[in-house]
Amino acid sequence: MSASSDVVTYEIENRIAWVRFNRPEKRNAMNPALNRRMMQVLQELEFRDDFGVLVLTGAGTAFSAGMDLQEYFREPEAQGLGAVRQAQAEAYGWWRKLRWYQKPTIAMVNGWCFGGAYGPLFACDLAFAAEEATFGLSEINWGVIPGGGVAKVAVALLGFRDAMYHVLTGETIDGRKAAEWRIVNEAVPLARLKERVTEVAEVLLRKNPVVLKAAKDAVRRVREMTYDNAEDYLVRAQEAAAFLDSEGRREGLRQFLDEKSYRPGLGPYDTARKG
Ligand code: ACO
Repeated sequence: MSASSDVVTYEIENRIAWVRFNRPEKRNAMNPALNRRMMQVLQELEFRDDFGVLVLTGAGTAFSAGMDLQEYFREPEAQGLGAVRQAQAEAYGWWRKLRWYQKPTIAMVNGWCFGGAYGPLFACDLAFAAEEATFGLSEINWGVIPGGGVAKVAVALLGFRDAMYHVLTGETIDGRKAAEWRIVNEAVPLARLKERVTEVAEVLLRKNPVVLKAAKDAVRRVREMTYDNAEDYLVRAQEAAAFLDSEGRREGLRQFLDEKSYRPGLGPYDTARKG
């Protein structure tokens, strides 16, 4: 199953949706047209039941070279504040949708990844990069701060000293360094990147999807809560997940305690079977 438009393409293969930034000639810089189309694609896909994991990647040599400096900055600024706010809302809007997406998401960073691209990168639950990829917060190089949430992403992902260094120097790092700094989970050679991401997606596809959504939201939410608030939130999140799937947890326990057909410490229960 596949569909495409100019600036965003996607295909669904073996229950994985591969969504691509598709302006390779502009290194997948995010212009308003791309931001609008990406929001549409994410909305079209979100509740479909023919896939369980979404992978975001880029066509050509880039994941994304960040915001389109001509079409996202210069042109709206020439039109006035209303156009600037409109462009921001369109970009931030799809990143927010992706942060709280129904399905687990993986960023597959195949190449250039600059500035604003850290928004969707952070929005994805997991991230894998090519060792050959190049990351950078280049804002400082052309005269702006890492806005659009990017400074927040830097401190959310990196330690304080590394975040400050990354923001202030604008120096690039490769995929290996990005893994060392925890911007991504892992870096592998580009030739193996799709294979590794597919492997991880397949692990997720074997889990209970209701619990995956509750778990990924919980990890994002509790980061900013006190311990007591988190404890309370998690009780309620667990109960809400049980409301959406009352059988899953009982079945997981049954297959272990009664049937002894799997070990939860070592892998998932068989979600296809109901006791
Ligand atoms: N905005 C607008 N156009 C861009 C962008 C961008 N962010 N990135 C690349 N392009 C365009 C180039 O202008 C060029 O267009 P043209 O062919 O019409 O002249 C085309 O994409 C190819 O770019 P090159 O620079 O020729 O490609 P190369 O592979 O040599 O270099 C690189 C790639 C390093 C990504 C370079 O294009 C670059 O530095 N881009 C800007 C990266 C950046 O700083 N992004 C902004 C981050 S800050 C923020 O997002 C808020």
